[in-house]
Amino acid sequence: MHETLIQTYRQYAELCQTNVFGHRRVSPKQILQQLADSVTDDELSDQYGKGVLIERFEQEVAALLGKQSALFLPSGTMAQNIALKIWADEQQSDRVALHPTSHLLLHEENAVEALYQLKPVIVGQADQLPHLDEIKAATEVPLAAVLLELPMREIGGQLPTWEALVSQSEWLHAQNIPFHMDGARLWQCPEAYNKSLQQICALFDSIYVSFYKDLGGISGACLLGSHAFIEKARVWQRRAGGNLFALYPYVVAAREGLKMHLPQMRQRRDDALWLAGQFNQLSGISTWPHTPHSSMFHIVINAEASAFLKRSIDWMQGNGICLIRTPYKVNKNRLISEISIGDAFAKLPRAKWQETIVDFAKVVLEA
Ligand SMILES: Cc1ncc(COP(=O)(O)O)c(C=O)c1O
Repeated sequence: MHETLIQTYRQYAELCQTNVFGHRRVSPKQILQQLADSVTDDELSDQYGKGVLIERFEQEVAALLGKQSALFLPSGTMAQNIALKIWADEQQSDRVALHPTSHLLLHEENAVEALYQLKPVIVGQADQLPHLDEIKAATEVPLAAVLLELPMREIGGQLPTWEALVSQSEWLHAQNIPFHMDGARLWQCPEAYNKSLQQICALFDSIYVSFYKDLGGISGACLLGSHAFIEKARVWQRRAGGNLFALYPYVVAAREGLKMHLPQMRQRRDDALWLAGQFNQLSGISTWPHTPHSSMFHIVINAEASAFLKRSIDWMQGNGICLIRTPYKVNKNRLISEISIGDAFAKLPRAKWQETIVDFAKVVLEA
């Protein structure tokens, strides 16, 4: 119904030089030049996953997260299906517990069943964090593993409390059920829990992390676990066509991403809390959750959609600034958008963002 307007909104949003969310736009040429400068003259390409450059990086990530071993893979989609397949073989069960909003259910064309012959068992409600009781109920059938995403993107970056997370981990371990983390955005969690990456990862048997979201890499992921688990993952990586002849461009980008972006995560969560506070002062706008748990949240706009989109497009055109990422859900009188704080926010001081938000509210929301 609003397709054309949404498309136009997206086009203008992409033209904006300044965004409140995500990372600053850098051209592929600039990115490749920066990456080339970060590689030393004596570093060599990996070959089919072997070589100092890739192995050193895998060891660095394993140490950072406190796991025995790490494996670099081209995508998280590959990493997580492989993890679940390994647990399924080990546990002799094809049932994997997933939240209804899991990436595996929503965005992977059902690879978990079509390629890996695993059967999802749905745990929890689509708009809520999963509870221990719901996990317990799911284990009425023997489970291969339980997958939990931290933070949960589709519900505004919410996180279970530390106590809830520890109880889930302890209970699953008492039942001998592997606990796998979808840590696509794990990097946001230490600040939220006031715990180290190692303390959080210690609650899980296997973990996937991404290098191209919070960390601004090109693509790529690591799967982590015990030595034995990662040896099995290497076999599945080959079967899945994931051990490319050379992965070093992605590894170098991931390495730079960790160096540049990881130290910014505390500031980004502070900025998310501050920004949500600003949005929540505007009439017709609220954030979900009201106080962000991580450095991301959703914005709910209660406005007549067409009028809001048209006025926002005009405002973006006039200011060259995008405050609300293209809404991903639009009804007649309600729009929902997602904000994740990256390095773009730091382009302007908070006072300038505040001024901009006040102007946006006057021109777009109160008109
Ligand atoms: C929560 C979550 N899990 C897994 C993935 C898969 O990552 P990839 O794009 O590397 O396959 C994504 C990607 O957006 C994600 O958001």
